[in-house]
Amino acid sequence: MISYVDNTCRKPNFTSNLRRVYDASTNSLLYLNTTGLFRKDLDWDKFVDFLISKYKNTDKVNIYCYACSDGSEPYSLAIKLMEKAAKLGVDCDKFFPINAKDIDAKMIFMAKRGYLPANESDEKILTEYPQYFEKTHIIPDLDLGCDSIWRVRSYLKNKVIFQHADINTDINIVKPNNSVVMARNFWIYLDGDFQRRNLARNIQALLKKNSLLVVGNSENIRQCDVVSTLSDFGYTKTPVKNVFDVPERKIKYKSIYY
Ligand SMILES: C[S@@+](CC[C@H](N)C(=O)[O-])C[C@H]1O[C@@H](n2cnc3c(N)ncnc32)[C@H](O)[C@@H]1O
Repeated sequence: MISYVDNTCRKPNFTSNLRRVYDASTNSLLYLNTTGLFRKDLDWDKFVDFLISKYKNTDKVNIYCYACSDGSEPYSLAIKLMEKAAKLGVDCDKFFPINAKDIDAKMIFMAKRGYLPANESDEKILTEYPQYFEKTHIIPDLDLGCDSIWRVRSYLKNKVIFQHADINTDINIVKPNNSVVMARNFWIYLDGDFQRRNLARNIQALLKKNSLLVVGNSENIRQCDVVSTLSDFGYTKTPVKNVFDVPERKIKYKSIYY
């Protein structure tokens, strides 16, 4: 089910799940913001194996999940970390809490209260994890673009802290070392290449040692070629697709004319 939201202000509103946002003045589609548990453009098993191994000798890992939408993404990561750590008999507390942030106030309002909007395809996955999610009888607002609302049980919910934030300004608070910045499937909404390059450069400058940037498949398309930008700024590929090492030595980047 897809619902339609009238956006009454000229500034774009960002929404999540299956909501669509239209610019009220032009009536044109601005955004179709989707997310879901274990979104397929990241190999979650490989990613979590990589994190556990990379940070095996680190006491604290700072995870920031920007553009977290309704929380599906940080919950996917938390679930996989707990599952893998239990199997390996290692402690995963150092990865928590995950700092999850989004510019969409409505999504963050819901997430902070432990609610997860779901559609039919989500429900299949959610029912596989009764220890973490339970279906509520709440009838979703039309503008959420979902079929049902699920409650996230506190054991999982407590692994994530949600905050309303714009990555462009909030990025300045990231800790310099042992940080993982997830910023996936949202760069297309930044204001063109200038803002995208700016963000890639800021992240590169702020993160010093042992840090990663994780993007999504939407960052590797012709209209939004973030992957080439990352290479300009010295980010290097890791064995996991869409996961990049942030360079420790800050190289002079190729000339950019603004
Ligand atoms: C397509 S969803 C991606 C959600 C999730 N990262 C994923 O890959 O499934 C895009 C999200 O980016 C958020 N967003 C857009 N611009 C943002 C910004 N400047 N700062 C933080 N979040 C932003 C939107 O609100 C929306 O929830």
